[in-house]
Parts: sequence; C-alpha cells; structure tokens
Amino acid sequence: MNKRLLVTGGAGYIGTHTLVELIENGFSPVVLDNFSNSCPESIRRVEEITGSKIEVFEGDICSSSDLAAVFDHAKATGEIFDAVIHFAGLKAVGESVAQPLRYYETNVGGTLALLKAMDTYGVRNIVFSSSATVYGVPIRLPYDEGHPISPTNPYGWTKAISERVLEDWANTGEGRSAVCLRYFNPIGAHPSGRIGEDPRDTPNNLFPFITQVAVGKRPFLSVFGNDYDTVDGTGVRDYVHVVDLACGHVKAVEFGFTSEGFSAFNLGTGKGTSVLELKHAFEQATQAAVRHEFKARRPGDIAAAFASVQLAEQSLGWRAKKSIDDMCIDGWRWQSSNPDGYTAFAESADQRNT
Ligand code: NAD
Ligand code: WQD
Repeated sequence: MNKRLLVTGGAGYIGTHTLVELIENGFSPVVLDNFSNSCPESIRRVEEITGSKIEVFEGDICSSSDLAAVFDHAKATGEIFDAVIHFAGLKAVGESVAQPLRYYETNVGGTLALLKAMDTYGVRNIVFSSSATVYGVPIRLPYDEGHPISPTNPYGWTKAISERVLEDWANTGEGRSAVCLRYFNPIGAHPSGRIGEDPRDTPNNLFPFITQVAVGKRPFLSVFGNDYDTVDGTGVRDYVHVVDLACGHVKAVEFGFTSEGFSAFNLGTGKGTSVLELKHAFEQATQAAVRHEFKARRPGDIAAAFASVQLAEQSLGWRAKKSIDDMCIDGWRWQSSNPDGYTAFAESADQRNT
C-alpha cells in the first residue's frame, strides 16, 4: 500500500510543489492548512497536474483539536500516517521582528503541538522545513551543516529552536526520526506554469519582485546595496529551483524511514549568484525587461550565502539539477500566465459555485 503522509502547509509555495513530487513517487499525501498564506485553488491545481484527488483539512497546526480531527480521520479511514512533512508556518523575517510572539507561537508552538499529536497516534517520522537562516552571519563559506547556529532575527530563532526540539524528540531512543532541511533560496515554479509562488503583499524576496516588475505590477527593482565585497557589489545567494527542493523532500522522507534520530541537511546548489547576475539571467532567459535602481543595503543582510551540498548528496542521494535559466524560465511562465497569482482564478471559481 502507498505510504500515507500528512503535509502541513501543503497549500503553500513549497508544499504544492512537494505534493506533485510525492504523488508522482507513489505517496498518498493528506494536507492540513489554515490558508492564512494560500488558497484552495493551489491544491486544485496540484490535482490538475497529477490527476489525483487530495484530501485537505482546513485547520491550524497550533490547535490540538484541529490536529486530533486530522489524525482521528486518518486512523478511522485506514492506516495512520507513516510520516509528516511540516511546512506550515510564518516566514517573513521583517514581520518576525515586529511580531516575535506570533512567530514563536506559530512556528515553535505549532511544531510542539504537531509532535504531541504524532506521539499520541504513534507517528515517528517527521521532515521539517528549516532554513539557511539558522546559520546567521557566516564564519566560513560555503555553510556546512556543522556551521554554528546563530540566527540574527526572530524568524531564524523559531527555526533554530524548532530544530532543537526535534533533535531532543528524536533522540529518546524510541525509533523516532526527524530530518531538518535547511533551504537556501527557493525560486522558480513547476514547468507546467500552473503552480508557483503567490505572495499576498509586496514581495519581500528578490525573485518574485523581479517577476512582478517584468509583468508590469511594479515600476522597478530596488537593488539593496552595490558595495558588498562580491563579484559586482550586490548580494550573493544560493538560488535553488523549487522542483529540485521538492524532490529533496521525497528523498528526505525515504531517508527517515531507514534512519533513527536527528539529522539536518542543506538544500541548495552550492553556487552563489548575485542580484545583478540573477536579474541579467532572467532578462536573457525570458526577454522581459527589469528596470532597477540601487538603494541602501537592507538592514540585517549579509554579503554572501551559499551551501555546502556534499552531505545531502552522500546521505540523501539528492543533488539540485536545474539551472538558473530553468528557474527564470519556469518562474516567468508561472508569473506571466498568472499575473495575479491564484486570486483571480479562486474568485471566479467561487462565483461559479454560488
Ligand atoms: P508559504 O507561506 O507559501 O506556505 C506555508 C503554508 O502554511 C501556507 O499554505 C499557509 O497557509 C500555511 N500555514 C501558515 N500558518 C499555519 C497554521 N498556523 N496552521 C496551518 N497552516 C498554516 O511558505 P513556503 O515558502 O511554502 O514555506 C514553507 C516552509 O518553508 C515554511 O515553514 C518556511 O518558513 C520554510 N522556508 C521557506 C523558505 C522560502 O524562501 N520560501 C526558505 C526557507 C524555509
Ligand atoms: C536575496 C538578495 C537582498 C529583494 C530571505 C530570508 C530567509 C529565507 C529566504 C526563509 C539579497 C536582495 C532582495 C529586493 C534586493 N526565507 N534583494 N531587492 O535575504 O537570502 O533570505 O528569504 O527561510 O530567511 O531572510 O533572500 O530574496 O530576500 O534576498 O536587492 O527587492 O536580494 O538584499 O542580497 P534572503 P531575498
């Protein structure tokens, strides 16, 4: 029988792409999402891509009764989950500085509530969305998994603390496994152009900002700093195609079934790309123009960040395959065919149903 997985936050950007890869690899995912940063239309698109119906529960990971409803239902209708992939959470660094308690409550509190529910129902495997942000200011590059953990903002601390909780939970000697995936900078979209990143407000991150300038929703890209000690003075990051990242989750789930205890892996390409290099690659790959203006450095930014990828390759058998051009072309296909994200489609679907 197919392995059953609970995917929290499955309606979001990385979650939807992971659902596609899970289904294509024979897993049966069930989603728990409160749609605070997504909408049901994204799941409908995953169903369209995969031709599979997905069971979705609308609920909050912080609510023990919402969690019990999902786990009870799984138990009543067949087998309990073989594993959980935990994406659900809040992810805006600036917002986490302004609203730290909300971030700790959702990201750390949600992880605790989920682990308690897993214990109650005897689920012993979890894959967790962590972030390269846990490393903080680099003392060496590339960041390897043994680099000190020293986040510089509350969001990063919610990930570091959740990792610590998962490590203690996994190390009780009761056959539990926790695999933390430290994502670098996921960008791009599924090659179908049907799912992609859909920021609700002004994008905080570089790539969605570039695509929104290209599609005419924003007048220009502000490049935050051109005086870093990098190839062209602009910030360098490790951009990874979201479909590669999604494939990393399939490998991580499989790894969790055959390992015990805690592990953490970087998911990146190992290659750094500057802001201007990414903008140029996007313009070349898509023939879309992106006007830019140089602005002051963004507070808290570092000059460069990129991953050591050996451990993920050795232990998970995972390596990013897609190029920056793939990321640009696929990201642009999504943005240009869905200039307002899922919203317009979701509204027309709602209207059809009334
Ligand atoms: P996203 O916002 O698109 O997806 C998160 C999903 O979780 C959304 O569908 C949202 O509605 C849901 N959610 C939020 N709070 C919830 C709650 N209390 N209960 C139930 N559902 C809830 O974000 P994403 O980019 O897909 O990121 C997924 C995970 O990966 C997050 O944990 C994020 O911190 C982490 N991460 C993201 C990035 C990135 O650059 N996108 C980088 C590193 C780590
Ligand atoms: C990349 C580069 C900016 C926007 C953040 C979070 C991190 C992670 C991913 C979740 C930097 C520059 C950006 C713009 C710009 N999320 N930039 N103009 O800073 O690596 O990481 O997102 O875990 O936690 O901190 O990514 O895309 O914001 O920035 O010039 O409008 O682009 O200064 O050099 P970052 P980013």
